[in-house]
Amino acid sequence: MSSIMKSVSDFLSRFSQKQKGGGEKAIEKQKKKGKHTARERVEDLLLDSGTFLETDLFVEHSARDFGMDRKELAGDGVITGFGKVNDSPVAVFAQDFTVAGGSLGRAHAAKIVKVMDAAGESGIPLIGINDSGGARIQEGVESLCGYGDIFFRNTRLSGVVPQISIILGPCAGGAVYSPALTDFVFVVNRISNMFITGPQVIKTVLGEDVTQEELGGARTQTAITGNAHFYSESEVEAFATVKKLLTFLPANSSEKPPLHRSVPPLKPLSDDVIPDDRKQAYSVRDIIRGLVDSSDFLEVHEQWARNIVVGLARLGGRTIGIIANQPKVLAGVLDVNASDKAARFIRFCDAFNIPLLTMVDTPGYLPGVDQEHAGVIRHGAKLLYAYSEATVPKLTLIMRKAYGGAYIAMCSRHLGADFVTSWPSGEIAVMGPEGAANIIFRKDIAEADDPDACRQEKIDEYEDKFSNPYVAASKGYIDTIIRSSQTRDTLLSVLELAVPDKVGRKHGNIPL
Ligand code: HXC
Repeated sequence: MSSIMKSVSDFLSRFSQKQKGGGEKAIEKQKKKGKHTARERVEDLLLDSGTFLETDLFVEHSARDFGMDRKELAGDGVITGFGKVNDSPVAVFAQDFTVAGGSLGRAHAAKIVKVMDAAGESGIPLIGINDSGGARIQEGVESLCGYGDIFFRNTRLSGVVPQISIILGPCAGGAVYSPALTDFVFVVNRISNMFITGPQVIKTVLGEDVTQEELGGARTQTAITGNAHFYSESEVEAFATVKKLLTFLPANSSEKPPLHRSVPPLKPLSDDVIPDDRKQAYSVRDIIRGLVDSSDFLEVHEQWARNIVVGLARLGGRTIGIIANQPKVLAGVLDVNASDKAARFIRFCDAFNIPLLTMVDTPGYLPGVDQEHAGVIRHGAKLLYAYSEATVPKLTLIMRKAYGGAYIAMCSRHLGADFVTSWPSGEIAVMGPEGAANIIFRKDIAEADDPDACRQEKIDEYEDKFSNPYVAASKGYIDTIIRSSQTRDTLLSVLELAVPDKVGRKHGNIPL
């Protein structure tokens, strides 16, 4: 054999050895947990077929303590590189649990840092797949430094390129903070686990028995904590949603989102889409689907703070971010979590040049000691801040109630909305007619011969005056009043006329 062919054959055997990750036994263990390997996730489930360009497969750690000098770790427990999703380039890393539990040591971190820097320089999305036992215990402070380097870059890349985290295994201790700094976190039922302190520590310190699933499983992280934005039943489903999400996004903050073909909704809105009875609930998702292209709405944080609905859709082929009160849950009130959820989404859209459509039907901020003590003032202020700060085109549709501070907060003209429209069912007032009548006509009601009849009379009077869009329209706070069946066409015209925002980094997307 010639020396060239010998070196090729040597390379091939080293290459295939490294590609096997932690070996057959560890892979079998991974499969038994219902998990794919890191390589399958990257090459088969995420990237367009045959597009993976792997980097740093031959990187080796230089740790020497606790037997590490005898341990060879393929790729140092992480696969890194570049590839294409939907034919557009992305940077990717996937922790390989079959190699030392995907634990993060110095070399492992350096590989991740390298693709993060490249994503920033090339202006392409960064996708991280987390499946790791956390800081590599044998490497001590070196692995902690590695996390610090990653957190620093997550923050510096925030608002520059979209960052997506897919949690497909344990993500424990301080390791959770890298995903938490990214724009979107995906979790999968029975596979993902995110927590700061594990069940054993909780048992030792607090004496409480808690399962890993309860503590930080996929359902907990999507429905209770809001740490995760997307929930899936399987890895395959999670990757399909990641790919779909990317179709809505630009590659970086200097670009506009990709333009698609305009497709009408499956069932356009009629003129009687909301119930006759102003107190009756309805699902705002039905209204959204009646407005957007192909009735296709990708909801973010679907299971958390369900009194507000946020997500991405297209209108006339252009990506829009939708923020809508959900009358079906808590009558669509704004509270601490709804404010955080909406504010963060608004800031993401603003950072990535995505116009906002706000759909209003809310009785206001949720009153009560619990909310006050939870900081509804501080959290509510984030929503005001996010809307006021946003410079992308801002369109507002008042569907029904727009009461009190929530009228202002839900992207009113006063917070810089570019276009505000209302259906005839719009009600713009300081509060609902019942509450208003009870307060301002308390004396009249108390002194009346028939207090109930008097109350009703005052409610009707208040309703006539304010529970409509005409007073606000007469003062120019609302630009047009339209029938619900006209909404899509009106919004399409406005989007066409909207002055395009200047592109380029405006701000990061701090986790709120
Ligand atoms: C080194 C680790 C490791 C770690 C797992 N392994 N975690 N090696 N450092 N952190 C190794 C195991 O020794 C084992 O090696 C292999 O990975 C598979 O682990 P198992 O325990 O066999 O797997 P499993 O039963 O599935 O349990 C997974 C696990 C458990 C729940 C993640 O391994 C675990 O509790 N690990 C420690 C988690 C932890 O406390 N990490 C530190 C968090 S603090 P062999 O050779 O036997 O196959 C942290 C601080 C970050 O991360 C701070 C940032 C600011």
